[in-house]
Amino acid sequence: MALQLGDEAPDFTAETTEGTINFHEYLGDAWGVLFSHPKDFTPVCTTELGSVARLKSEFDKRNTKVLAISVDPIEFHTGWVPDINETQNTEVDYPLIADPDRKVASLYGMIHPNEGRTVTVRSVFIVGPDKKVKLTINYPQSTGRNFHEILRVLDALQLSAKHSVVTPADWEDGDDCIIPPAIPDDEAKDRFPKGWTAPRPYLRMTPQPDK
Ligand code: BEZ
Repeated sequence: MALQLGDEAPDFTAETTEGTINFHEYLGDAWGVLFSHPKDFTPVCTTELGSVARLKSEFDKRNTKVLAISVDPIEFHTGWVPDINETQNTEVDYPLIADPDRKVASLYGMIHPNEGRTVTVRSVFIVGPDKKVKLTINYPQSTGRNFHEILRVLDALQLSAKHSVVTPADWEDGDDCIIPPAIPDDEAKDRFPKGWTAPRPYLRMTPQPDK
């Protein structure tokens, strides 16, 4: 069965452009974003890896380690990185995992046979400091990802983990949040001293607790 939210993120040891890495050890107490790309020396993937490199400091700010993976061997990865750096005007300074025997791709269900039997789709896994899977998304090979959205989701996940709020559609850091229905009003009074507005009893909006 496919990995589900709340499952433990499978651990693995693999060769990467930053040396041999054990996934859980590498994450330590940080959050992790593991994202697959179908193939090296391909155009969409080149732009994606460049985008993540340019946003690396944003992931760092969120105590989050990023790791890319494809089923190509390490020699392909090391040959490709200079192309990414040059064409995307950046410096890839995070690990690209080589997975030529598809061990990691299989553990994470990154190969979707209807999209291609031998290569991964564009999967994203966000892993919490407890090593549990917090989010999964799969994009087809044709569609480059929006990594600003991954940062936005990280903000939302980290906020919910810390402050017992949930976040509405299109929420961005600083916007009002929602008090979960499981918290009754008398308890919410203590937990959310900034108060709330309730256009319906089940829809209680409160200012972001840490702003
Ligand atoms: C790409 O990254 O450009 C790509 C990879 C696999 C199939 C199609 C496009």
